[in-house]
Amino acid sequence: MNGSVEKLTLPPRRSIDWKAGRIRFIDQRLLPGKLKIVETDDWRVIAAAIKGLGLRGAPLIGVAAALAVAATAVKFRTSNPQRKVLSAIDGLYATRPTAVNLSWSLERMREVATQATEEEDFVETVVKDARKILKDDRARCRAVGGNGSRLIGDGANILTICNTGFLAAAGEGTALAAIYQAHDMGRKIHVYACETRPLLQGARLTAWELKNAGIPFTLIVDSAAAYLCAIGRVDLCIVGADRIAANGDTANKIGSYQLALAAGEHDIPYYVAAPESSIDRNCPDAGCIPIEERAPAEVATCGGRGIAPADTSTWNPAFDIVPARMISGIITEKGVHHPPFNFA
Ligand code: MRU
Repeated sequence: MNGSVEKLTLPPRRSIDWKAGRIRFIDQRLLPGKLKIVETDDWRVIAAAIKGLGLRGAPLIGVAAALAVAATAVKFRTSNPQRKVLSAIDGLYATRPTAVNLSWSLERMREVATQATEEEDFVETVVKDARKILKDDRARCRAVGGNGSRLIGDGANILTICNTGFLAAAGEGTALAAIYQAHDMGRKIHVYACETRPLLQGARLTAWELKNAGIPFTLIVDSAAAYLCAIGRVDLCIVGADRIAANGDTANKIGSYQLALAAGEHDIPYYVAAPESSIDRNCPDAGCIPIEERAPAEVATCGGRGIAPADTSTWNPAFDIVPARMISGIITEKGVHHPPFNFA
């Protein structure tokens, strides 16, 4: 793999792991220049990494938060672990609002932590559940990838945005897992990766993953996507999801809606790939999906350098909504859900 490798390691195509009460993860802020693996048992380090996008992608932040809760239980095994765990849950909750996977896994950890009472039993129970969330995510990624790969024919040109690979999950990812599996089956595919301004998850992370996997790809600026669709160079779009409402309305990385508009205009199928844990069955439609707005500086800079006059006013929504009617299918570990969607 590219990048200077420090002494800590992770297995191939893994962005996070758990070992003896400690979490290892790739700090994605430094990719593709440097592959730095951080090891910690401090939930605050995980919370700061989630907030700063050192750990990102809906499934991954859910898993990382659960492991951070477990690490807290282990660390404070003999000094009121339950109180420490509950305060870690609150702190982790406050990091990012849009991906439902985060609140899903933290609510699950809260339930486990409030039910287990005996100290020894408490730590073991919390760790067991967090490790199950990690393991289940890997299995889900595999199944989402398998179900998605069946939609990718030989010779397909695929358009995607953001990063939905192993850097975005505990396993191989979602939309990119489908691409990995289609490639591993020998299909000749080609990916168009949107750069994904402002934080360049496509240019920095998806391009890095695809290059390391030997999958042919072309990086484009986000604003080239509609023209690419118009001139017939895209066979299908596959993207991830941060939250899917019960009616199928889907929040994903800002720019996804533009892709869906272009795909719809040019009769190109638009698929969403996500684990079932990204479905918020309590949320009837897009109206209840909170859209994160991030710091203005992210728009006024690129790659850490200022690109706009001082004090330029900016707006920085991190996600947008693709209405259910524009989605050809939602690929999960259970199969492909077709419209009309009803996850209530
Ligand atoms: O802001 P990010 O990088 O966390 O946004 C990530 C996305 O929008 C992904 O498409 C989504 O989380 C699915 S990742 C499998």
